[in-house]
Amino acid sequence: MTRHDLRLDDKVAFITAGANGLGEATAMQLARFGADIVIADIDADNGNRVAHAVRELGRRAQFIATNVMDTAQIESAVAATAEQFGRLDILVNNAGGVRQNNFMDQNERSWRKHIDMNLVSMLAATQAATRVMIAGDRGGAIINVASSEGMRGAPGYAVYAACKAGMISFTRSMALELSGYGIQVHAVAPDMIPTHGLKGIVAIASEGENMARDRYIPLGRVGEVEEFANVVVFLASGMASYLTGVTIPVDGGTIASSGWNRSPADGGWTLYHE
Ligand SMILES: NC(=O)c1ccc[n+]([C@@H]2O[C@H](COP(=O)([O-])OP(=O)(O)OC[C@H]3O[C@@H](n4cnc5c(N)ncnc54)[C@H](O)[C@@H]3O)[C@@H](O)[C@H]2O)c1
Repeated sequence: MTRHDLRLDDKVAFITAGANGLGEATAMQLARFGADIVIADIDADNGNRVAHAVRELGRRAQFIATNVMDTAQIESAVAATAEQFGRLDILVNNAGGVRQNNFMDQNERSWRKHIDMNLVSMLAATQAATRVMIAGDRGGAIINVASSEGMRGAPGYAVYAACKAGMISFTRSMALELSGYGIQVHAVAPDMIPTHGLKGIVAIASEGENMARDRYIPLGRVGEVEEFANVVVFLASGMASYLTGVTIPVDGGTIASSGWNRSPADGGWTLYHE
């Protein structure tokens, strides 16, 4: 293996919700490593902005207006990708969303919205993209963007957490079902990476923020979107050739600490703090 195995030259990547946040950073980083990019998102202004930025890097790029809540729109975006680019090598199932609400205050409409946005969108894109990958006979990489909430209890986010846990489980099953086609399936579980979406989950810019970060995030700081995208690039590349079915937390260590808190005063660890 050499550094060239990180290159994604001439590969085509399809990214759901790629117009902002983690999806945007992923689009840019995959392009920097040589991939051509398709962004499927509802935000046309930012989707076109990111596609333009990718073209500035010398790669091909296309924004396709897509509401991932509508399976037919996902299928048609994947079909348009295959037609325009002639292949599809990397699928990043990044679309997802959450609203904080205790489960007992939620209704069926809210459950179904969470499930459509986080789970059904992944199922639809995976099936459509996998058909193209199998027909192309070049293998492929599918990367599902789960969450740390899929790996722990999440009060106020029960349905979202169940969906993200479902993504992690689906990742394992698909890794097995698709292994014979040379298609690797992975998940990444981000936490504490400031984006517009994360604002809905935690108030990052609150008083005592630094203290909370020091205690809660073992690496002592929030993440950068590029640090997330780097892991996606690795998983999409030849450097990850013997991995499939795994979930990688990209979280500064929050899943590892699981309730342990660091004392900013002396750097020691406790299970409780005042
Ligand atoms: N940022 C974090 O620390 C973090 C933590 C855990 C999980 N995640 C997961 O990462 C993924 C990306 O989150 P983010 O933080 O980058 O969010 P973000 O809010 O920055 O970006 C979300 C994107 O989704 C698009 N979108 C919204 N509804 C859509 C729809 N119906 N159809 C198509 N596109 C739609 C938006 O236009 C936007 O481009 C999500 O799956 C989220 O659950 C992020």
